[in-house]
Amino acid sequence: MKLSFQEEINRRRTFGIVSHPDAGKTTLTEKLLLFGGAIQEAGAVKSNKIKKGATSDFMEIERQRGISVATSVLAFEYQNNKINILDTPGHKDFAEDTFRTLTAVDSVIVVIDVAKGVEEQTEKLVSVCRMRKIPMIVFINKMDREGKDAFDLLDEVEQKLGLKVCPLSFPIGMGYDFKGIYNIWEKNVNLFTGETTKDIFETEQIDDLSSQKLDDLIGQDSADTLREEVELVQGIYPEFDIDAYKSGDLQPVFFGSALNNFGVRELLDCFVKIAPTPRTKESDIRIVDPLEKKFTGFVFKIHANMDPKHRDRLAFIKIVSGTFERNTPYLHTRLGKKLKFSSPNAFFADKKEIVDISYPGDIVGLHDTGNFKIGDTLTEGEQLNYKGIPSFSPEHFRYINNADPLKTKQLHKGIDQLMDEGVAQLFTLDLNGRKVIGTVGALQYEVIQYRLEHEYGAKCSYENINIHKACWIEAEDEKSDEFKEFSRVKSKFLAKDKRGQLVFLADSPFSLQMTQDKFSSIKFHFTSEF
Ligand code: G4P
Repeated sequence: MKLSFQEEINRRRTFGIVSHPDAGKTTLTEKLLLFGGAIQEAGAVKSNKIKKGATSDFMEIERQRGISVATSVLAFEYQNNKINILDTPGHKDFAEDTFRTLTAVDSVIVVIDVAKGVEEQTEKLVSVCRMRKIPMIVFINKMDREGKDAFDLLDEVEQKLGLKVCPLSFPIGMGYDFKGIYNIWEKNVNLFTGETTKDIFETEQIDDLSSQKLDDLIGQDSADTLREEVELVQGIYPEFDIDAYKSGDLQPVFFGSALNNFGVRELLDCFVKIAPTPRTKESDIRIVDPLEKKFTGFVFKIHANMDPKHRDRLAFIKIVSGTFERNTPYLHTRLGKKLKFSSPNAFFADKKEIVDISYPGDIVGLHDTGNFKIGDTLTEGEQLNYKGIPSFSPEHFRYINNADPLKTKQLHKGIDQLMDEGVAQLFTLDLNGRKVIGTVGALQYEVIQYRLEHEYGAKCSYENINIHKACWIEAEDEKSDEFKEFSRVKSKFLAKDKRGQLVFLADSPFSLQMTQDKFSSIKFHFTSEF
């Protein structure tokens, strides 16, 4: 039966899983795919993380690139829903990649390790989601291990992540004593037998917690504890409210063990019921609704082809409104020219395929020979640009020098294209035109050097430069005496980013503070969008 345009949109759920490395994101993804029937066995999804201790290994970097193309988008069908999981690297050196991917998701699942609690990367990523009001569900993982007390953990999630939680399931014991989960949402008990990997659908309906059935199932002590705890949960935490969840004001929490496939079906069943369908998106001129008939979409990720002989790249487009159709000319609004795509790729857990038509919420991969930059918009003709793909101040800075004068052109082209892909950020000093590369992790310098050589035939070397942070400058009046004074005194520290925006490269936290104090009419921003 052919579905209507609206039905196609309503059945789509596009989300990302965020976590600190090792919390269990890959394992959870894999179990979700198993439920969707998208893969047949565990172990089919390769971990996309860089293993510990291998942070400066080229082969590892290359392996990472290969795997991350394969796992960039994993789509599967579950109960007539089309689910798109967007990969978000947990490794901190790729944090910027993750931030950009978060512009393309409609909701997020946050995975937390019960023993480690809220970790650094989780905090950063969740703060971005919170700022953008992205609906989040929290999954507390590894309940088969000894960990923190559930109430303490919920407190930690509220305090460190600034969330307002609403537990929709509650663990019965933990670690050795882990007996299962009471599903507050479905009002049933899911027993952990140690063999749950096989019996993934076994649950007992308990409509009334005071019933004897609960004692029979888990023993009187555990049953009494559970009754008390659930009463406490209901006393302390707000009731679930779908609107509050969708507006980013309330976060449901589930407990489980991804490795044992325990608590995952409950999470998924609730997810497909409550998670938002493709959302509206703000552009520079208006808010665009997914139901609009005319196609619009934006590039949130660019991936270089693994094969160095082909310079083509895959640009990942999130469809915001209308339908994207093969061989149809669309307007690239930044370049002002029409482009047509003969082989747009759709991604499934186990394969990638050429698709004729895609709907809002879907991601398509377009072969690109250098037309796209991250953040570019495609439309059916309307001149609009989507907002919201900011750059953050890099953590590391180095001069980049040409190490082979005969290959200057190749070097510039290579740097340009790698920056379009978002591998790192380029700053050109106002004073002398020297180029500075800023990255989130030291790993990217090696990636850039390696790729310049292997893909562009150019050689580069780096030179240290003492920079603490890059701040994007906003001046109320560029003709003011204060701004002129700032430009004169700080000329050594001023640069342009790739889009020509003025950036102040502060050499220490102290000098940044001094400069901010001295030039109080000038605003110093830590992201490129303000
Ligand atoms: P990540 O993608 O978030 O980085 O984490 P990943 O799923 O790779 O999981 C990290 C480690 O935690 C893996 O073990 C995985 O098996 C384990 N794990 C995930 N979920 C659970 C759980 O519910 N219970 C327990 N006990 N462990 C869990 P590893 O030894 O690092 O890797 P591997 O050799 O098993 O692949």
